[in-house]
Order: sequence, then structure tokens, then C-alpha cells
Amino acid sequence: MVQTIIVVGGQWGDEGKGKIVDFLAERADIVIRYAGGNNAGHTVVVGDRKFKFHLIPSGIVHENKLNIIGNGTVVDPEVLVDEIETLEKMGFKIDETKLVVSSSAHTILPKHREEDNPQKDPHAKMIGTTGRGIGPCYRDKIARKGIRISDYIESSSSETAKKLKPLIKDTCFIINEAIEKGKKVLFEGAQGTLLDIDHGTYPFVTSSNPTAGGALTGTGIGPTKIDSVIGVFKAYTTRVGAGPFPTELGTEEQTNKEGTWDKIEPVYDEALKEALEKANSGDEYFQGKYMRLKGREYGTTTGRPRRTGWFDGVAAKYAVMINGMSSIVITKLDVLQGLEKIKICTAYEVDCEKTTKFVLNSKKLAKAKPIYEVMPGWNEDISDAKSFDELPKNTQNYLKKLEEVCRAKISIISVGPRRDQTIIADDSDLF
Ligand code: GDP
Ligand code: IMO
Ligand code: MG
Repeated sequence: MVQTIIVVGGQWGDEGKGKIVDFLAERADIVIRYAGGNNAGHTVVVGDRKFKFHLIPSGIVHENKLNIIGNGTVVDPEVLVDEIETLEKMGFKIDETKLVVSSSAHTILPKHREEDNPQKDPHAKMIGTTGRGIGPCYRDKIARKGIRISDYIESSSSETAKKLKPLIKDTCFIINEAIEKGKKVLFEGAQGTLLDIDHGTYPFVTSSNPTAGGALTGTGIGPTKIDSVIGVFKAYTTRVGAGPFPTELGTEEQTNKEGTWDKIEPVYDEALKEALEKANSGDEYFQGKYMRLKGREYGTTTGRPRRTGWFDGVAAKYAVMINGMSSIVITKLDVLQGLEKIKICTAYEVDCEKTTKFVLNSKKLAKAKPIYEVMPGWNEDISDAKSFDELPKNTQNYLKKLEEVCRAKISIISVGPRRDQTIIADDSDLF
């Protein structure tokens, strides 16, 4: 029986972790965020309501679940209170039976936010940070100069501190006792494997360990307590912010020039039609633009357009290895509908040599040329499909190819943002 699951991002974030966590949370007792802070943006769609979480675990929309913000996270107290109040206005009652924060989580202070400003600080700009103070806060934690949230609460008489006080607990005991009692625990990753401070495309990474190992140190449980690690991947690839991206379609500059969602929205239908036509005539930039438009690839946290590209099987196989993923989830499969040809990167050419191993050096990776396998696409609308067998043959073949290049089985397929647009392909490592 599966009792504990880590959900981890397999790419550069925004893979749809929020949706998958919400889906799995139905059967969980506890949902825990273990790394990162409000640099994350997790979207959960329930009926006609859309929730965007930055810090609070995506399990919060379910009743009778305990949500925990683990010790591995960094917490901006004002942002957390804002998020709680937004939920309260929507009719949710948030108290310590629904949400607790680890006493050992570190506090993002105003000075961290001020420092992490891509408009003012060239380094933050070079990385393309979310500007939320994440890096400076983790730096102070590692330098042993940080402030744990329990100490912040004790030293502050602000309304914010008062509101948070009842939620601050020594959460490692709560989690381990729950596991001991047979409760089901879901660990919600933020960011993604390629943004990991140790295993990602350094220095174009975040400042924590979003990978599965981070779920252990970030909550205080041991590796023997984990039953499954589920990696979430989009059916293609996206990246927000700077850094190497071998399968990118078009350039970072071209993407940034398009502007934010509010600019696109009024002309969406025509832009989508134009992008599909040009994509199918072989224009790579428009192939990427089609994914951006159809997949609404605009950041939840910053509104920035996301860079887009084909599925990178070399990077995905690496992510499966680094996390010890027991299965993978493929999301946003519906977005590829209409493209006549779909490519999967199965190897890189680096310094005139072919390799199927991910390249750890970012400068080298930036020069890696993707080698593709081309597969026929599909034109059918798959967003209502309820099983693998209902999917068109070409879609099935694409999924089988993904399993082969990733060397992992697919447990879940997502064909739309809603809960009911989720297909279970194999439930052996799910609750
Ligand atoms: P996260 O950071 O990994 O939780 O992902 P985000 O929420 O930042 O971005 C994923 C976006 O895709 C959200 O807007 C989701 O509602 C949406 N989404 C998730 N799964 C699917 C899917 O299968 N199809 C489509 N079309 N959208 C999806
Ligand atoms: P979710 O959980 C996508 C990226 C930023 C930047 C780099 C460093 O929604 O998948 P930071 O502010 O962390 O110092 O920025 O990491 N980044 C994300 N990209 N999704 C995220 O979270 C991200 N969190 C950070 O864009 O390139
Ligand atoms: Mg996101």
C-alpha cells in the first residue's frame, strides 16, 4: 500500500504540479510544501474556480486535510497572511487544524526582497529571478544569519506576527507521528529538477533543492519512509527566466518581446490561428508560440511569457534518475493538438559528439544541439478523453515514446486543467 508520495517537477517548473497535487490530495491526509517560497505559482482549477497558490499547499481546497509549510521553505510573512486572507474571503476557514508552518522555516525579510530586484540588481536580472527575496533569504540561512519564523514571531508585535502565531508548530513531529499512524502524506514539490541548486542548470537555478531529496531534509523525515516519487512533466518543455534550454523554439528575446498575457488576450484567437498555420509550415518560432498560446504559458507569479520548446528526453531521463522517480505524469498533452509533426529530443550533439547524457555544465549545455525523433501529431480534441484507450493512436504512440526515452512508466496523463481531465494509466504507485 502506498502511504507517502513525493510529487516533484521534472523540468524547469510549471509542469502542472499544483493540478496533480490537488488530484492526489483527495486521498491524502496531509499535504506538505517542502522547498522554495512564493517564487512558486501553483494553479488549481476546481469547477469554475481557479486558485493560484504561492506558499500554501494545493491541498487547502480540500476539506479535512492538514496542510504543512515545511522547514525547507522560506516564508514571507506578509505574503502568507495575504494568501490566507484571500482564501478566507473566498469562504475557507483557515486555522491550525488546516494549516501549520514549521517553526524552523526561514523568514523572508523586507531587506531580502529589496535586494532581489531584477530591475536594480544585475545578478538577479542575469538569472531572471522572480524578485521575491528567495536567494538572499536562503543565503542568510546557510550563512547562519537567518531568522527562523518562530524567532520572527517572538520578536515582532505586528498584526502579521499575531495572525501567524497559532500556526507555527514543530512540524517534523506531526509528520512522523502521522506516518506512524498510517496516515497518507503527500509532499508537494515546487520549482523543478532543472532549477535545483545542486542538480539544475547552475547558476540559472533557484536557491533550494526542489528534487526528491529536498522533501526529506525539507520536512524532517527519513528516506525509508517514502513509498513513491512521481515526476511531473509537460508534454513539451517550458522555462521562465534565463539559462540554457536546448530544445527552445525561437529565442528568449523573441518570447520576451511578445509581452505579458494582458497584451495577448485581446488578439488571442487570431494569434493562435496564425501561429498554428505558420507552425505547420515548419516555422520553429511559431511552433513555440503555438504552445505558448494554446498552453497559456504565462507565469502565475510574474505574468512573464514562458519560453517553450519540444520535450527534452535527455533532460527528462536525467530528472528520472536524480529523483529516483517511480513513475511520471504527463500534463498538457491537449496543448499539442493540431501540430502535424511533434518532435522529441533523444540525444544532444556536444562538441561534434552525440550523447544521451544530460550536460551538467551550463555553458556546454547552452551549446548542445538537440537531436530529434519526429512523430506524427493528431488533430482530435483529446480534452475529454477518459482513458488511454480513448486517445488517438498517434497520441498513444507519442506517450509510449516518452516512456521509452524517460525510462519510466506513466502513471497519470493530464488532458486539461480540471480535475476530471485526468487519466490514470497505472495506479500502482498512487494512493
Ligand atoms: P505548477 O507550478 O507546476 O503547479 O504549474 P502552474 O500552475 O504554474 O502551470 C501549469 C498551468 O497549466 C496552470 O495554469 C494549470 O491550470 C494548467 N494545466 C495543468 N494541467 C493542464 C493540462 O493537462 N492541460 C492544460 N491545457 N492545462 C493544464
Ligand atoms: P513553480 O513551483 C518556474 C525560476 C525563476 C528564475 C529562477 C530563480 O511554479 O514551478 P528565484 O526567484 O527562485 O530565485 O528565481 O528560478 N523559478 C521558477 N520557474 N516555476 C517556478 O515555480 C519557479 N520558481 C523559480 O524564473 O529563472
Ligand atoms: Mg508554477
